[in-house]
Amino acid sequence: MKVLVIGGGAREHALCRSLSQDPAVTELHCAPGNAGIAQLATVHPVDQLSGTEVAALARQLAADLVVVGPEAPLVAGVADAVREAGIPVFGPGRPAARLEGSKAFAKDVMAGASVPTARSYVCTTAEEAAEALDAFGAPYVVKDDGLAAGKGVVVTADRAAALAHAAACMGAPPAGGWGRVVIEEYLDGPEVSLFAITDGTTVLPLQPAQDFKRALDGDAGPNTGGMGAYSPLPWAPAGLVDEVLETVLQPTVDELRRRGTPFSGLLYAGLALTSRGTRVIEFNARFGDPETQVVLARLRTPLAGLLLAAATGVLADVPPLRWAEEAAVTVVVAAEGYPAAPRSGDVIEGLERAEAADGSVWVLHAGTAADDAGRVLSAGGRVLSVTATGKDLAEARERAYAGVAEIELAGSHHRTDIALAASRAAD
Ligand code: AMP
Ligand code: GLY
Repeated sequence: MKVLVIGGGAREHALCRSLSQDPAVTELHCAPGNAGIAQLATVHPVDQLSGTEVAALARQLAADLVVVGPEAPLVAGVADAVREAGIPVFGPGRPAARLEGSKAFAKDVMAGASVPTARSYVCTTAEEAAEALDAFGAPYVVKDDGLAAGKGVVVTADRAAALAHAAACMGAPPAGGWGRVVIEEYLDGPEVSLFAITDGTTVLPLQPAQDFKRALDGDAGPNTGGMGAYSPLPWAPAGLVDEVLETVLQPTVDELRRRGTPFSGLLYAGLALTSRGTRVIEFNARFGDPETQVVLARLRTPLAGLLLAAATGVLADVPPLRWAEEAAVTVVVAAEGYPAAPRSGDVIEGLERAEAADGSVWVLHAGTAADDAGRVLSAGGRVLSVTATGKDLAEARERAYAGVAEIELAGSHHRTDIALAASRAAD
């Protein structure tokens, strides 16, 4: 099977790594990729937001499967273009990708499917925003309606800051935005990321993971795309996956099919396990980053066949997924200034030393690029995702941090508490 992966972050590096381990894969390509992916796949300098360019590349390569990693190409309709070219694609078309592209649309789908989520208002004026903030009270949750790479959400006890963020969202919509803001009730309790693979009808949940969204230890600092993750979750209730399949994932997939915009690809449910039950915080229309790094580290079912089954509508024929007993932890090494103003162009050293000879620690590249001298340079906010497995979270964590300690990147920062509480709770 010839597979083309679209994207160039650590999530795509993790996808490429798993795909390269699937014996069914004979050729692996990635566009645009990064310096790490280039060691596993042939990389192509293609504009990942252009459906025409991606479909042309897929045709030229005679790809049997295209896997779209990030949200931006999905929301831009890249999966539709590939599908129209007659090539199986893993990832929803533009209408279903609005589940991630518009928080207001996601709320509407959830209402239609009776999926439990935070109560919310969609506002388009400062007056409406102020009213909504006062209706819920502090802490305030203010969300940009459109895509914002995980950085469009402000959770704060400061009413003025909440209003200022609302004004910024409404006044200057980013690409894909509508100048609307979603204000919702605050959800307490731990967060869980649960992914499901779906062909639009059948839904296969993966194992849950937990992400660390804030930049600094102790969940301080601004929201980021995600600073680390681990799986499994020893503290999660036993029936969680079945409950979420029944109350969230299947109803959402059924609702989108009913609306004539079937969702095939990866449905990501970001959940809060609140004192009043499980609630959806957000949906994403693609694999999460960095959770994918730990979920795929534990998946034993060959990935290419699984994604192809979803892309071709035969997921019901796939046998139950197989999982390693091991735990996995990933720690993101971010550039100086991330998330506000990341610095790029610094040399990264220690990449080989960071990986363990026994295969239990590996470095996934996110924002990296190789220069003419063959050196690897930082080229993005999240630069690397150091991933490790172990018999339990404590061992996986120790190995991941031993890997991080070998990385030399001027000004870089990482959290030191990824999986810390969970590894202690599991003792
Ligand atoms: P989102 O982009 O919707 O995933 O939001 C990013 C992060 O903001 C989430 O992972 C939560 O940590 C936080 N957040 C979003 N919505 C809420 C909410 N209603 N209550 C509490 N925290 C929230
Ligand atoms: N890790 C959060 C996300 O992928 O959106």
